[in-house]
Amino acid sequence: MRILMVCLGNICRSPIAEGVLQHKSDLKGLGWVVESAGTESYHVGEPPHKLSQKICLENGIDISHQRARKFTKADAGHYDLIYAMADDVLHEIHRTTAPNGSGGHIRLFLEELNPGMKESVPDPYYGGEDGYHHVFDLVNRTCDAIIYRYGHQIGK
Ligand code: 4NP
Repeated sequence: MRILMVCLGNICRSPIAEGVLQHKSDLKGLGWVVESAGTESYHVGEPPHKLSQKICLENGIDISHQRARKFTKADAGHYDLIYAMADDVLHEIHRTTAPNGSGGHIRLFLEELNPGMKESVPDPYYGGEDGYHHVFDLVNRTCDAIIYRYGHQIGK
């Protein structure tokens, strides 16, 4: 399975989601490839936000090697699952990939935690460290749900 996590800047939320899901996949030996991207280009080439790196490292996950990149139309065909961290991100992904990108493999990330709820992971960029802890907790629980749902599909 190839999975892409997408947020706006690709420095706060989706790098955490990439790191956490890749870590869980590796621990289980699932062989998944998890990557991330942003719909905006402000931070292309930058490592994850210091607080995203800190929260992950406190949980045993090093995301310092990641570099921000922009989501592209071609991404829609390269991944089995594409998760938007927020509804504005999902809208932008659909706009970028139209008319071919509206397949069921492009979804809101938190739908895996609370199906049908259409919730967004709050953007921690303009707040303090608490926001990053909240994001990590949401991401951690949602990645457990993704592993539970798809972790039995061996061989990809
Ligand atoms: P992210 O957070 O989408 O979780 O990476 C943001 C990072 C930067 C900006 C917005 C959101 N920004 O406007 O620069």
